[in-house]
Amino acid sequence: MELRRAAITAVGHYVPEKILTNAELEKMVDTNDEWIRTRTGIRERHIFDQGPTSEMVVKAVQNLLLHRGVSAEEIDLIIVATITPDMMLPATACVVQEKIGAKNAWGFDLNAACSGFLYALSVGARFIESGVHSKVLVIGADKMSSITDYTDRNTCVLFGDAAGAVLLEPSVEKEYGILDQCMYSDGSGGAYLNLKAGGSLNPPTHETIDKKMHYVFQDGKAVFKSAVVCMADVSDEIMNRNKLKGCDIAWLVPHQANLRIIDATAQRMGIDSSKVMMNIDKYGNTTAATIPLCLSEWWQAGKLQRGQKIVLAAFGAGYTWGSMLIQWSLASPEKP
Ligand code: ACO
Repeated sequence: MELRRAAITAVGHYVPEKILTNAELEKMVDTNDEWIRTRTGIRERHIFDQGPTSEMVVKAVQNLLLHRGVSAEEIDLIIVATITPDMMLPATACVVQEKIGAKNAWGFDLNAACSGFLYALSVGARFIESGVHSKVLVIGADKMSSITDYTDRNTCVLFGDAAGAVLLEPSVEKEYGILDQCMYSDGSGGAYLNLKAGGSLNPPTHETIDKKMHYVFQDGKAVFKSAVVCMADVSDEIMNRNKLKGCDIAWLVPHQANLRIIDATAQRMGIDSSKVMMNIDKYGNTTAATIPLCLSEWWQAGKLQRGQKIVLAAFGAGYTWGSMLIQWSLASPEKP
């Protein structure tokens, strides 16, 4: 069977209205706006207080289907990358399937933390490339506020809530779509970024709650050291492998965890900061949602254009990391 290429044919996102600013965080923990901005690049983040992760997903997906003119019944597969599922079971993908009425789809969740969307895109693309499916919804969504300890200044300044989604379909032209990818994981990083309770290792008890083991834990310094090297290495790798220089790339679409990590990656790739998608100042780290949120915002603004080569790059808990090279095929939205 001839290999088909998978292309992103629609994008959508949802960001909750409620904003949590650095000034508000100053009143909650011992921190300040200057520290947060200079160490991370974050000015504010959005908080979803209207329900679980699936509710944000539904809004992002409905938006996407409307733009593409595709009905939910036409979807073959739903992959939800998240570390904040509605429940331990069933999978949030099944909850989403029911809520949007994707009667003919099957689906599952994928946990790769901040690399979740990239991993999910990689998996989804295989179903298109092999000819098994024609319409795959790939979603990155996290309600990080549900696992964040708002008395811990090390983590609470970092995270926000959002959902982003893309539709994968077979590419009409061979040179468009997902061209290449590099994916990695290293389980030795588990000690530095984790959520200890709630799983089979530490089933929830009063003790796990008292010890705040149901919140995300991060040794920021250790994670930073690995993130900055891995994201730059994996982005460099995909560029070299495809014989590309910085000037060949229209956009770097990095996971939004820290402005300094993003800058280091762009520098290594020889990409000017004007060609880096960046919205960390507005949303903070929305984990699996950061990359589809960037793609959707830039596309809606008409800045992400058909024919452009873009590189996606992410690093997250696991450790997990990866990069992807795409020749963008979706035409800009029509101006109203
Ligand atoms: N306000 C003020 N001071 C703070 C705050 C805060 N919010 N948080 C920490 N500090 C203090 C620390 O206590 C420390 O004080 P000390 O020197 O007296 O001990 C000092 O600031 C420096 O702390 P560091 O942790 O060394 O700060 P750093 O410059 O490393 O920045 C950060 C911390 C932003 C977390 C950074 O390490 C980082 O971005 N790490 C990587 C994050 C990442 O990529 N994660 C992966 C994706 S997330 C996922 O997968 C779920």
